[in-house]
Amino acid sequence: MLESILSKYPKEQDMLIEILLDVQNQKTDQYLSEAEIEQIASYLSLPTAHVSSAVSFYTFFSTQRRGEHVIQVCKDVPCYLNDSDNLVDTIQKQLGIGMHETTEDGMFTLEPTSCLGICDGAPAMRIGEHTYTKLNKDRVTALLAEYRGKR
Ligand code: FES
Repeated sequence: MLESILSKYPKEQDMLIEILLDVQNQKTDQYLSEAEIEQIASYLSLPTAHVSSAVSFYTFFSTQRRGEHVIQVCKDVPCYLNDSDNLVDTIQKQLGIGMHETTEDGMFTLEPTSCLGICDGAPAMRIGEHTYTKLNKDRVTALLAEYRGKR
């Protein structure tokens, strides 16, 4: 699968983030393995350490297997001041997982993220491609039930 994704891209180092996203998004467990990172680095003639540091810099990448829905709660100051800790607490209690963990059924992974760029809607979080703002305990509870119902 990786070869077919790489073949769509020119061997240009500017393509790094786009390739990493494409590879990660094609996988149901939504993560980048060490082998994939090495192969992408080799394809773009970049040091593996360079690719690894890009992966660890951006919170939308992961080197750990993830669940079907990745929940990322913003941890930056405006969200923190608007009670994002309570959101995390609610999610952790309802899903029975801690930060950076995946539910046993493989449905949800919980992660922190840096600012999502929607601070006027703090506290905010993202589930997959969708962002949610002005969250509170009831709204988060309803969202989790909605995602559970999607399976
Ligand atoms: S600080 Fe949370 S969205 Fe900007």
